[in-house]
Amino acid sequence: MSIAVCPGSFDPITLGHLDIVRRTRRMFDVVVVGVARNASKNALLGPEERVDLARAALSADPETADVRVEVVPGLLVDFCEEVGAVAVVKGLRGGADFDAELPMALMNRHLTGSSTGIETIFVPGEQRYAHVASSLVKDVARYGGPIDDLVPPGVADAVRAALGR
Ligand code: PNS
Repeated sequence: MSIAVCPGSFDPITLGHLDIVRRTRRMFDVVVVGVARNASKNALLGPEERVDLARAALSADPETADVRVEVVPGLLVDFCEEVGAVAVVKGLRGGADFDAELPMALMNRHLTGSSTGIETIFVPGEQRYAHVASSLVKDVARYGGPIDDLVPPGVADAVRAALGR
């Protein structure tokens, strides 16, 4: 049984994330979405709320209904080992994503050992979501702009509530 982890901040989950998890589920028997802390970002939503929103969105799609969603309490590689994952799957919207992701993938390889470690797989996301980033979604919402067609149902309201709008 092949197990993959789709990690991320998911602050909040977007339609772009759902696209990547769906593609990952087509390649792996079991997919676990890991809601983790990115040390270089200040999260708007708490980890449990991010988990709940991701669970609701994934369970609404028959293709991802069996995907588990869990908080990553520490290092991603420790979480991967715990769930038995052979791969970390991340989506790429463009070159800037690759530049940000490659050092993390190499660090994770460093932490797990170069020959027997978990491999990181980069999956290009759908072109129509190339501009959809959680940070931009929050920025648009902060100024009262429309975000409902960028995120799964329920997420826009949660973001607006967290922003006090
Ligand atoms: O959605 P993001 O912010 O690009 O995801 C990055 C994330 C959260 C997956 C990464 O920061 C991470 O793995 N955090 C968990 C702690 C960890 O393992 N840090 C070392 C990563 S090289």
